Amino acid sequence: MKGPIRKIGVITSGGDAPGMNAALRAVARACTYYKVECIGFYRGYQGMIEGDSVELSARSVRNIISKGGTILKSARSKEFRTVEGRRKAHENLIKEGIDALVLIGGDGTFRGGVAFSKEFDMPFIGIPGTIDNDIAGTASTIGYDTALNTVVDSIDKIRDTASSHNRLFFVEVMGRDAGFIALNAGVGAGAEEILIPEEDLGVDRLLQTLQKSKRSGKLSSIVVVSEGDKTGKNVFELADYVTEKLPQYDARVSVLGHMQRGGSPSCFDRVLASRMGVNAVEFLLDGKSNVMVGLIEGKIITTDIEQAIKNTHDINRELLRITDILSV
Ligand code: F6P
Repeated sequence: MKGPIRKIGVITSGGDAPGMNAALRAVARACTYYKVECIGFYRGYQGMIEGDSVELSARSVRNIISKGGTILKSARSKEFRTVEGRRKAHENLIKEGIDALVLIGGDGTFRGGVAFSKEFDMPFIGIPGTIDNDIAGTASTIGYDTALNTVVDSIDKIRDTASSHNRLFFVEVMGRDAGFIALNAGVGAGAEEILIPEEDLGVDRLLQTLQKSKRSGKLSSIVVVSEGDKTGKNVFELADYVTEKLPQYDARVSVLGHMQRGGSPSCFDRVLASRMGVNAVEFLLDGKSNVMVGLIEGKIITTDIEQAIKNTHDINRELLRITDILSV
C-alpha cells in the first residue's frame, strides 16, 4: 500500500483540444490548494519516457484558461506502447518522486494508462480531453463544445457564399469514427443533410434529399459530412457523384480540418475543464484510481476507465429525425 500522495504528475496526450490548458490550470491550482506538488510532462507519455518535465505552480498556469492548445504540448507516443518505453517512463516518475498521475486525453491516452497501471503501482485518473466527444462516461469531453461553435461559425460563413452563388457545399468535419461534431453542428448550422458514421443512409437517400430541396425552391444547400462517414466515398468523390447525377447543382467542398482543434475555449469548456481538473486531484487524494471523471446530468462523477474505453455513447437519433423535418 502506497503512502500519502505528495506529488502528482500530469500530461496532455493525443489530439489536443481547446480547454486542455484550463484543465492543467485546475490540476495545478488544486495541487497547490491541497499542498501537493504538481509536475507536468511535455508531449504526453513521451515526456515521461524522456524525463522532460516542468514544475506547475499556481502561478505558472496563470493566464492560460483562455488559451487553446496545451502548454505541455501533446503527442501520441509510439515508444510508450512498448514495455521498455513504459519501464523508462516509470523510472523517471520514481526519480521525480511522482506518486500519482492525471492523464488528460482521449481513449488512446486511457489505454496507455491502463497498460501502465497493470505493470506499475501508479494510481491515475483520466480527464476526457478530445474534440470528438467519443468517450462513454461523460456527456461532453473537453474541447467538444468549442469545436461545435467553431464548426457552426465556419458553416455560417460558407452559407453566405453558397447563397450568393446558388451552390451546394459539402463540408467535412472531424470526429474520427464518431459523428457527434457533424450531427450537432450540422443541426446548429441548419444543414440540409448530415452524413455520420453511426447512420449510413446511403448516397441515394442524399440524392433524394437534394432533389427535394431543389423542388422546394432551395437555391443553395449545405451537406455536413463526418470524416468517418461510411458512404464509401470521400467528400470530393461525393461532390463529383452528386453533380454527375444532379447536374443542376454547382457543388464545392470545404474540409475544415485542424482549425476545429484550435481557438479560445468556450465558457462551457473552461468550466467543464476546471471542474474535472479539481475533481481529478480530489479523487486521487481520496484514494481513487483507474477511473475517468465525467459530466453526467450536471454532476462530475467517475467511471471505471476500462468501461470508458470499451463503451461508446449513443448518437442522438432525435437530431437526425429533426434534421429531416427542418430541411423541408
Ligand atoms: O481525435 C481528435 C482528432 O482531431 C480527430 O477528430 C481527427 O481524426 C484526428 O484527431 C486527427 O489526428 P492528427 O492531429 O494526428 O492529424
